Amino acid sequence: MEDLQTLQTELLDRIQGAGDLAALEEIRVATLGKKGRVSLMMRELGQMTPEEKKELGPRLNTLKTTLNAAIAARREALENALLNERLQSEKVDITLPTAPQPEGGIHPITQVIDEVTEIFTEMGFSVAEGPDIEEDFYNFTALNIPEEHPARQMHDTFYLPEDANGKRKVLRTHTSPVQIRTMMAGEPPFRIIAPGRTYRCDSDATHTPMFHQVEALLIDRNIHMGHLKWCIEEFARRFFEVGDIKIRFRPSYFPFTEPSAEVDIGCAFKGDEIAIGEGNDWLEIMGCGMVHPRVMENVGLDPNDYQGFAFGMGLDRIAMLKWGIPDLRDFFAADLRWLKHYGFTALDLPSLSTQGVK
Ligand code: PHE
Repeated sequence: MEDLQTLQTELLDRIQGAGDLAALEEIRVATLGKKGRVSLMMRELGQMTPEEKKELGPRLNTLKTTLNAAIAARREALENALLNERLQSEKVDITLPTAPQPEGGIHPITQVIDEVTEIFTEMGFSVAEGPDIEEDFYNFTALNIPEEHPARQMHDTFYLPEDANGKRKVLRTHTSPVQIRTMMAGEPPFRIIAPGRTYRCDSDATHTPMFHQVEALLIDRNIHMGHLKWCIEEFARRFFEVGDIKIRFRPSYFPFTEPSAEVDIGCAFKGDEIAIGEGNDWLEIMGCGMVHPRVMENVGLDPNDYQGFAFGMGLDRIAMLKWGIPDLRDFFAADLRWLKHYGFTALDLPSLSTQGVK
């Protein structure tokens, strides 16, 4: 039998010196495994006399326990070293710059057109278009605004120079000419919206020379003011996503509708901000009314057969309201800082798609 004390010192040295988990396992098998040195020695106890057993047995047991403990301690040390190494090599330097973000975004006006279009197409309207440079006939005359009619002064019109026939085209002052183009091009019923640019010679915090409107026209049989009101209220509820939105219909005058009204949304002007659904201020967002019988006649429809309603809404206005943008002029200043702040990312869906409004 080897000298147990020397054996213990030698084995403990080797365990301590094991460079990795595999080497340690090798030592364990060679020592305490089935055919390991210490295991064999324990088996030899069987052939010994009771005195020898009594003397050697406890010492071998102590050796076994000491070695097991040393192996466990070494294993833990090696595993910790391995973990530390991984933590070192896999650490993330959070001070590094992030991956490049996409430049550019969706302008609030584009976003507003998408959202409005989504709401009205769901109600069964389709999208119609007309030119920005418009003939006097579509912009005024057919809409029951004859030449020299004082209503022409309501619009601070940009006129183009006379053409060869002595006629002056205009930058359309509203989207209403699309009503005429639509009705002249097809047969009723009509149910269209026409978003687009409009122009008037006017400029302050809530007016810019170029702005945006969306026109709506619905012509069918037995249409009345109740249809118009429902349509506008339903739109406002969905678009603004505000539960108790305040809407006000004020009697008004437009040559192409009778009766006519202007629609205001209740809001609060708080210094540099606007908030909807609270406060005692009003912001006008649209003009509306029942299509005037004379307009129906101008496009060859019999007002006794067909009726309809129309409205023209300021898209910039409703964008200002919805997102609390205080100054209209900033929309068109092409200031990248403003666009970054108020713009939308390309993958933003129109609010309704994600909102689940019924
Ligand atoms: N065209 C009108 C405007 O720009 C708005 C309007 C459209 C009013 C349709 C009634 C019907 O002020």
